[in-house]
Amino acid sequence: MFESLKPVAIDPILGLMIAFKADTRSEKIDLGVGVYQDDRGRTPVMEAVKIAEARLMDLEMTKSYQGMAGDPDYNQRILGLLFGDQHSILSSGRVKSIQAPGGSGALRVGAEVICRARPESRLWVGVPTWPNHIPLLGSAGFEIKEYPYYDMASQKINGQAMMDALRSVPAGDMVLLHGCCHNPTGADLSHEQWDQIADLALERGFIPLIDTAYQGLGDGLDEDGYGMRMMAERLPELVIASSCSKNFGLYRERTGSITFIAETPEQADIVVSQAMSTARSIYSMPPAHGALLVSMVLGDDQLRAHWQAELEATRLRLKSMRSLLCDSIQNNEAGMDFSHIKEQKGMFSFLGITAMQLERLREEFGIYIVSSTRINLAGVNSNNIDYLSQSMLTVLKS
Ligand code: LMR
Repeated sequence: MFESLKPVAIDPILGLMIAFKADTRSEKIDLGVGVYQDDRGRTPVMEAVKIAEARLMDLEMTKSYQGMAGDPDYNQRILGLLFGDQHSILSSGRVKSIQAPGGSGALRVGAEVICRARPESRLWVGVPTWPNHIPLLGSAGFEIKEYPYYDMASQKINGQAMMDALRSVPAGDMVLLHGCCHNPTGADLSHEQWDQIADLALERGFIPLIDTAYQGLGDGLDEDGYGMRMMAERLPELVIASSCSKNFGLYRERTGSITFIAETPEQADIVVSQAMSTARSIYSMPPAHGALLVSMVLGDDQLRAHWQAELEATRLRLKSMRSLLCDSIQNNEAGMDFSHIKEQKGMFSFLGITAMQLERLREEFGIYIVSSTRINLAGVNSNNIDYLSQSMLTVLKS
């Protein structure tokens, strides 16, 4: 049977991660996969998570099954994190969230439920988007359609073209939006643009599917929730896939959530029963460990404050690496403008250099960047900035 199969190329982002690990040069720099690194190039477990982990060792009394929705306490606390504890949606009965295996698992469960509800649904994705959105969501059954999002030439959101395209999205279709820290561009919607998209969703009848994987890494926990909080207030239906990979540093623990807002509490109950049956038919139940840690951190005032301070330090480091890199390469012989790097949010920005320059950075200098020229700013640090900027300035001359 297997002789009919052809090998499949590894996902480019994860392939780059493997290639970086295999590179033996000590000066190599990883600007590829979206994983946070501190100023020493490490990806440590957050302290608040470590403390929770130590407590959990003592407190955990069973490893028995928890059920398809995961940990109810975690589910409740994630709602508070997404919307803020005082949001009116929380007492409406119209919102329900279940735990999922990471942001990817959440997106997939959400997509499956939407396709069960409306098999003819199409999903509109901004160009560009996280490349894995396409196979991950497309294989749930969506026909994928595109709307323009970013203009590479000006390194800005193409607001006019985006709104024009969204104006033609028919009722019942889904529109994928990035909650904050857009991956791969780093260019986030302004509040005004969020408001305009909500107006269009009401007018046209399309439904936003928000992917929020970086809450707290852009402008702050509450600020980064603007779009989904406003939409939760205004729209009858909304789907949000969220992840604790980045803001809790729980990458490999696969800790995420899928949240549904329905028109009535009765519908919300039905939707969540569908999500649970979807989960049962794919992986049965989500892994427990990461969610137990998140719920412990969010449920303890001191630990929560500790985590928030760490998250804020992470956010500020990313911001300062943006300035540092921009200032060190802005004056280049090619006359390229990198000022967008300073203005954008979260982990990523595009460099906008050529494929040849990208290749030279990797081959000659051991600097790993995905082929779209997306860089992860967390890979920049005070020890490698001179080497990094000199290497970039060298290839920019060519
Ligand atoms: C990324 O975009 O680099 C991360 O979200 C990791 C991944 O799975 O692609």
